[in-house]
Amino acid sequence: MSTVEHSVSPLRQHDPEVAAWLQREDRRQGNTLTLIASENHCSAAVREASASRITDKYAEGYPNRRYYGGCEIADGIEELARQRAMQLFAGAESANVQPHSGTTANLATLLALAGPNGRIVGMALKAGGHLSHGHDKSHTGMIFQARQYGVDPRGRIDLDEVRKLCKEHQPKVLIAGGSSYSRNIDYAAFAAIAKEVGAFLMADIAHPAGLMAAGVVPGPIGVADVVTMTTHKTLRGPRGGMVLAKNEVLKQVNSAVFPGSQGGPLVQQIAAKAVAFGEALRPEFRSYALRVKENAAFLAERLLAAGLDLVTGGTDNHIVLVDLQKANVTGAEVEERALAAGLSVNKNAVPGDPRPPMVTSGLRLGTAAVTTRGFGRDEIATIADVIIGLVRGNDPERFRPTVQALCEGFPLP
Ligand SMILES: Cc1ncc(COP(=O)(O)O)c(C=O)c1O
Repeated sequence: MSTVEHSVSPLRQHDPEVAAWLQREDRRQGNTLTLIASENHCSAAVREASASRITDKYAEGYPNRRYYGGCEIADGIEELARQRAMQLFAGAESANVQPHSGTTANLATLLALAGPNGRIVGMALKAGGHLSHGHDKSHTGMIFQARQYGVDPRGRIDLDEVRKLCKEHQPKVLIAGGSSYSRNIDYAAFAAIAKEVGAFLMADIAHPAGLMAAGVVPGPIGVADVVTMTTHKTLRGPRGGMVLAKNEVLKQVNSAVFPGSQGGPLVQQIAAKAVAFGEALRPEFRSYALRVKENAAFLAERLLAAGLDLVTGGTDNHIVLVDLQKANVTGAEVEERALAAGLSVNKNAVPGDPRPPMVTSGLRLGTAAVTTRGFGRDEIATIADVIIGLVRGNDPERFRPTVQALCEGFPLP
């Protein structure tokens, strides 16, 4: 708490209105249990780097090849981040730490490998993919000729469908990865399909990146031509993106990041990424990642035992996707009840969902943020009971004291 107070106090004097909003957010996060699978709580050290003075510095270009003077320190920071990233994802041939976000990392990769108007194949948003995998409302669906694959009725990727679609569409890039996919992905099988049709394989590991860095979930390094990710989900860093590319495509990827899709890098975010990668290289991070996975498996087990349906019947990572169709309640309704109880969750489409995206029939849960707060089996069991009660229509207010006690017992980092 003292770090937070210290960092907002000059702001409080200078602009009390913004300071008050930020303080409210500190309180909101402190008094809420975040089960949104794409969120986490980064460390005070990461936040300090992210708020540092180097935010003032322009550093267009890459280390030792900048379009501005005075970049020696930016060079040092970017090199450090790159080296740590390659240590973390052992076997990666290069790292570009400049993408401002996961979406930019994906756009740059697709520009590099498919080119404007090039053909791409990715997982559909409603099946668990991400907007930036070729959805028609995303620039990746506007700039590229995209086709999308779904999942089978159990919610699993159907590799035969992927192969069939690739044979029809002949993409330059095949994308593997998703936003609400709770199972391991067979990257070798994806690579074989890509090879068959002469496509590059892009693996988007935005969600499980931290679990893969820690080696608790199998990853695509050495298999995919390019790996993209966000740094703020299970990797527990600052908001941002990263691309790991094989040497053969490195030049194209780098120039598609800058100047292809971005201007100057956010050096303060690169510094914060370096801090987060340093944290993730420590043995404690492996224990954390292992606990994230165990907590998700235990949450899934408890929800199943209470009779709830889960897409794919369980989880291999930090995501648990609840199918609410038989429970006769919508994702939007449970999301609202959960908020009233102090849980931050998100509604999510399930395979073949008949309801619109703002309603949905599913609930996506993730254990990365609560595990950062220190949750283990006991706390997960309590959370599972709360979710079960909310799905069954119990008054959310009834659970608020339980949730508040957990929030107070497990403060934010
Ligand atoms: C698989 C995947 N790729 C890309 C992104 C995009 O990340 P960002 O929000 O940083 O653009 C996300 C975000 O949730 C994601 O889940």
